[in-house]
Amino acid sequence: MNARRKPLIAGNWKMHQGGASGVDLAVQVARAAAVLPAVEVVVAPPYLAIPGVVRETTEVAQQHHCAPIGVAGQNVHHEPKGAFTGEIAASMLVEAGCRWAIIGHSERRQYFAEQDADVAKKTRAALAAGLGAIVCVGETLEERTSGRTLDVVLRMVDAVLDVLAGAGARGVIAYEPVWAIGTGKVATPKDAQDVHAAIRARLAGRDVELANATRILYGGSVKADNARDLLAQADIDGALVGGASLDIAQFGPIMRAAQELAS
Ligand code: PGA
Repeated sequence: MNARRKPLIAGNWKMHQGGASGVDLAVQVARAAAVLPAVEVVVAPPYLAIPGVVRETTEVAQQHHCAPIGVAGQNVHHEPKGAFTGEIAASMLVEAGCRWAIIGHSERRQYFAEQDADVAKKTRAALAAGLGAIVCVGETLEERTSGRTLDVVLRMVDAVLDVLAGAGARGVIAYEPVWAIGTGKVATPKDAQDVHAAIRARLAGRDVELANATRILYGGSVKADNARDLLAQADIDGALVGGASLDIAQFGPIMRAAQELAS
């Protein structure tokens, strides 16, 4: 981590905890986050849980006299409205109380055929609506073993470089090696740091302020017992957590590791 950027710990719930159980989980996260002022915490519930999560986590923040945790959409459509059955616009997320959107997650790229150009359009739409954008990039196992990790990751970063310029702390990149997502196979802190440093250098090549402001999160099998070593790396500014974000006994220690390293 680096003192100039506030660490960001985001939980990507995927297609889990969509109803009352999601609101309960968010309240637990919000209560834990209320005593961790050095960390920005975000949860990304399924769409239907968003209004309840926003309402209840805002109430927790009022009780604790602190800022509420952030709530994110897991995806966003690039058009403001129209005949796009099943889709949600950025302004709708804002209206529901979201402050963030996750964009271009590898599951969106893999199962829903999202391409770099789509990811750029979605990122532009999210930022224009006032949301922060957590843009996911990462290589597959085959791309890593054939030595193409940086080619792939930097190609994905290049697609959003111009869009992220000027976004400040609302621009976030999540490096998530596809082979580490949901597999229990976490990148070593050094391997992750090497990719994060390459992403930072690419941002710096576009604009030094962009490199200084953009938080680069690591994602892929982050757990309570490996978070600290990852977060201690110079260019790792936080974590995008899937499975472990569904269990406060895992997510709590990840948030606390960020707080301890930041303070
Ligand atoms: P995981 O998922 O933590 O379950 O590996 C991370 C993600 O997909 O964002």
